[in-house]
Amino acid sequence: MAKNSKKTGSIEKEIESLRREILDHDHRYYVLNEPTIADVEYDALMKRLSELESERPDLITPDSPTQRVSGAPAAGFEEYVHKRVMLSLDNSYSVEDLLEWAGRCEKLAAGRAFDYVAELKIDGLSISLIYEDYILARGVTRGDGNRGEIVTQNVRTIRSIPLRIRTGSKPDRFTAGVKEVEVRGEVFLPNEVFARINRERAEQEMQTFANPRNAAAGTMRQLDSRIVAERNLDIFCYQLLLDGAPAYETHFEALEWMSSHGFKINPHRRRCRTIDEVLEYCREWDERRDGLNYEIDGVVVKINQISVQEELGATAKSPRWAIAYKFPARQASTQLLDVIYQVGRTGAITPVAVLEPVLLAGTTVSRASLHNADEMARLGVKRNDWVFIEKSGEIIPQVVKVITERRSGEETDFDFPVRCPVCQTSLVKPEGEAVTRCPNADCPARLREGLLHFSARRAMRIDGLGEALVEQLTSPRIKKNQKGETVPDENGAPITLPPLPPLVASLADLYKLKELRDELIALDRMGGKSADNLLDQIEASRQAGLARLLYGLGIRHVGERTASILANHFGDIGRLREASVDELSRIHEIGSIVASSIREWFDQPRNIRLLEDLSAAGVIMKTSGTATEEVPRIFEGKIFVLTGTLPTMSRDEAKSYIEARGGRVSSSVSKKTDFVLAGSDPGSKLDRALELGLTIINENELLTLMGP
Ligand code: IVH
Repeated sequence: MAKNSKKTGSIEKEIESLRREILDHDHRYYVLNEPTIADVEYDALMKRLSELESERPDLITPDSPTQRVSGAPAAGFEEYVHKRVMLSLDNSYSVEDLLEWAGRCEKLAAGRAFDYVAELKIDGLSISLIYEDYILARGVTRGDGNRGEIVTQNVRTIRSIPLRIRTGSKPDRFTAGVKEVEVRGEVFLPNEVFARINRERAEQEMQTFANPRNAAAGTMRQLDSRIVAERNLDIFCYQLLLDGAPAYETHFEALEWMSSHGFKINPHRRRCRTIDEVLEYCREWDERRDGLNYEIDGVVVKINQISVQEELGATAKSPRWAIAYKFPARQASTQLLDVIYQVGRTGAITPVAVLEPVLLAGTTVSRASLHNADEMARLGVKRNDWVFIEKSGEIIPQVVKVITERRSGEETDFDFPVRCPVCQTSLVKPEGEAVTRCPNADCPARLREGLLHFSARRAMRIDGLGEALVEQLTSPRIKKNQKGETVPDENGAPITLPPLPPLVASLADLYKLKELRDELIALDRMGGKSADNLLDQIEASRQAGLARLLYGLGIRHVGERTASILANHFGDIGRLREASVDELSRIHEIGSIVASSIREWFDQPRNIRLLEDLSAAGVIMKTSGTATEEVPRIFEGKIFVLTGTLPTMSRDEAKSYIEARGGRVSSSVSKKTDFVLAGSDPGSKLDRALELGLTIINENELLTLMGP
């Protein structure tokens, strides 16, 4: 806790001591991964510091922890000329390449002895951190190697980057007399954060990022550092540059120095005496890479001795003393047979490639996302093209490239549809947006997706309503006789009777199904018992509450969390319906895009009709008054690991339940794991959990923990 401020005398002293304390906790939490105080205590320190700084704004310095996120969005980024070029690395793709490089190094070293340092090659973007008088003065992107962009405001939001170098009390032989210290490293997005961001974006039908690297690079170029702060970027530092002659003899020593001065260094670095040890490290990490919670695309091998590095020097592009060993790519080539166009709940059209099935990283892949019309045009895909597909992060496979060399002339162009493939309405693509949409609110495909979303577990929770049933409920019905045959006319030929309208043409029609029990039972795979079960669930869903209803309505940009904020703020849908964009934007955590989207939804007469129908059916449209409908944060701070296939939930579903309740899902088991959620065919993670004696739960137990 805060040391007693009164006794420290002046406000200056208290501010300084708070800053030291907070930066120390940042270091423990974000670099060492060993927090020593609870979040509330940390928040109290920050609060006290902010209070003092607002009393004395003249004392605010750029290295104050309050300055991590501050200021208005930037208008653009200034250019910076790197004092030392940011070189890139030569790549090697095979053992032979690596051996050849080592042989070259030996020749050039002309008899000097050396060893190697092997490090993981983090797949992110390189950043240079410049410290003046031990204080972070600038963060700069690599750019073209000579000129980068100044992104200091964004870099400051990365909590594992020290705002000041943690110097000890003793003078330092490395930096004595050095005014400027430059540390370079790779900024990256942890896989679980990447998955969360993409899930949120998909939920809001926004463009998803293709991989964590793109997401990290896109984030670093954000003009608004508050958005960067929410993205939880991280860094591993790998190079130290000091003015004048370096006082350290080896690269490994420099890494240790950075580590002991507050920088986050990858723990898997290894000193190797021979190139065979390096090869062993490469083999080991090609296998272990899936266990990491960030992406690596290879290993960087460096000569350890600085004197030998200097002897070898660099070409215009890359140092001779280092090389990147790239892992074999997780790519496969296959033929693209067709493209189908899926219509989402908000009408967004997603082109999906239908592929000749192919084995990729252990699973058979027959579909891959093409994202949108712009991406299809960028790739230039044609029917029957051979393409490379790739799996990256935790997402569905992507088409990354057309193999034009394999074209035979038989390939044909795709025309992106101009009409909705389901309802034939003309599609729209707003200027500047990548997404093409079907604007018809009555589009059956949109209704089907809308029904699935409405009945989802996090929304109105109507479990019996799966895809096959929704398809039947929303399709026109063919009239059949009692035995289920079409009725023949007097000449014996089957008569085509005009089809009957579908059983469900709007969300509110679900609540009328109880009057259509016979029709329900007549559907495929629907008996009396399952029909009654479904009707019971539909009836019960009327009590789901305002937050779930708001989420279930599928208003663009209103995810589970926004829905619960709105429910708690307004208490009943009538009040929300009256709210202006201004009033909505003033609510904490609701931005102008979300506010406009909510307003637009309530401005549509069809939506008001829907609400009236739902209300008439007895669906509850207000909060209960006393209890809030906030999703309870029962998993706050708890770490989950998922393994195996769950009986009814997808992994994504399980993840979002856990995260919405404050928990975190990690990809690897350690002694810090609180729960291992295991399904059938669990992997080695379960063995490890058993070894460590961790709590192992199944889907049912998770549901019990989550409560009603
Ligand atoms: S050393 C002059 N070490 O890979 C040598 N680079 O393809 C400077 N990278 O531009 C680079 N992890 O962005 C180094 N452990 C690591 C790395 C690493 C990732 C990136 C870095 C570099 C790129 C070259």
